[in-house]
Amino acid sequence: MTSPAYRDDRAHVFHSWSAQKALQPLVVAGAEGSWFWDEDGRRYLDFSSQLINMNIGHQHPKVVAAIQEQAGTLCTIAPFHANDKRSEAARLIAELAPGDLDMVFFTNGGAEATENATRMARLVTGRQKVLTTYRSYHGATGASITMTGDPRRWASEPGFPGVVHFFGPYPYRSAFHATTDAEETERALQHLEDVVVLEGAATVAAIMLETVVGTNGILVPPDGYLAGVRDLCDRYGIVMICDEVMAAFGRCGEWFAVDHWGVTPDLICFAKGVNSGYVPLGGVIISRRIADAFAERPYPGGLTYSGHVLGCAAAVASINAMKDEGIIEHARSLGTDVIGPELRALQERHPSIGEVRGLGVFWAIELVRDRETREMFVPFNAAGEAAAPMNELVAACKAQGLWPFAHFNRIHVTPPCTTSADDVRHGIAILDEVLELADKQVR
Ligand SMILES: Cc1ncc(COP(=O)(O)O)c(C=O)c1O
Repeated sequence: MTSPAYRDDRAHVFHSWSAQKALQPLVVAGAEGSWFWDEDGRRYLDFSSQLINMNIGHQHPKVVAAIQEQAGTLCTIAPFHANDKRSEAARLIAELAPGDLDMVFFTNGGAEATENATRMARLVTGRQKVLTTYRSYHGATGASITMTGDPRRWASEPGFPGVVHFFGPYPYRSAFHATTDAEETERALQHLEDVVVLEGAATVAAIMLETVVGTNGILVPPDGYLAGVRDLCDRYGIVMICDEVMAAFGRCGEWFAVDHWGVTPDLICFAKGVNSGYVPLGGVIISRRIADAFAERPYPGGLTYSGHVLGCAAAVASINAMKDEGIIEHARSLGTDVIGPELRALQERHPSIGEVRGLGVFWAIELVRDRETREMFVPFNAAGEAAAPMNELVAACKAQGLWPFAHFNRIHVTPPCTTSADDVRHGIAILDEVLELADKQVR
């Protein structure tokens, strides 16, 4: 017997990124903290934080109350008015952001943030090109999908003009034949500078990168890389944009991932963790220099729901709760004291694990068929039969009540920042069992 929710979904809801016919969505009835459950009361530990947005955990009482209270006062107001919650959210975000990043342009989500950040960069520099990395995701709207450096872009090509992709650092599969992190940093920076020069530095408006690459592998940049990009941008007059839609607000154990390296970009894109998606909200944090460029001339961009007050009220409550409850510190220590050591222990037990990497509550287990050759456990962008070995692992996790995030040949460990150490260990214990299936496929 299927429920009305399931039947109406299958009849009328057109889902993202999917061939519609084969879908069998789980009907979620409720959630709390790091757990959610279906209509039959079957519970899942959320190791995916939904789409890596549920940083504060499901149904945080202070955020729920703030939304309820705001709904009773004022549900929405046009962006040209000022409003107490919007003003407060902008101030709190600006206070947390590094350096002179102290103005906020609000959007409804991440794609609109990357669209607007690159629009600002083009207008301020008078240049056209934007450089982004392969193995990146920047959203699914016109420019943001073109800037995306993964297969989700392919079907939308040819896209927006002036986007050029380059290789970022990925020590485990170095594009530069590097054998140490220091070599990877040096060679990745030289490669980027070569691309800038060959594209014509005077045509490059922005370099945009995910501070820590999310969906495409939790690629943590080796020390020195971000500082090197900052230096390169300064030397060539290029705007440095850090896309922290996934990486900010506790995910990396910091307010902003750049804090980990003490680097200040010109623009930061955020969404997701700012209020955990309780109400859609994203934005661009803007340096004083770039904001001032629009002091006299109008900024030619806007959205009906820019700075939606329900979203902003949720952001204010969420940021304050994160401060009051030490949630950033908790996420950091989950990374250093629990997830990191537990995953390294898994790696010793399971020959199918090629590498584990991450920080905070942002980790990847990269699976291989052969540790020597590093052959991927399933091929790049595998689909259908080729993806079956990964699908088997995902199904085995779900059967044990663990909701994982899997991408290509990786399983990501990305629970809410508020997850208890015991729950994290429980989830990793399930992964420990499930990975025995993967080990059988190792050569
Ligand atoms: C790094 C990054 N940028 C942008 C986006 C797009 O955000 P949204 O789906 O809110 O448009 C995402 C979404 O996953 C992301 O991870």
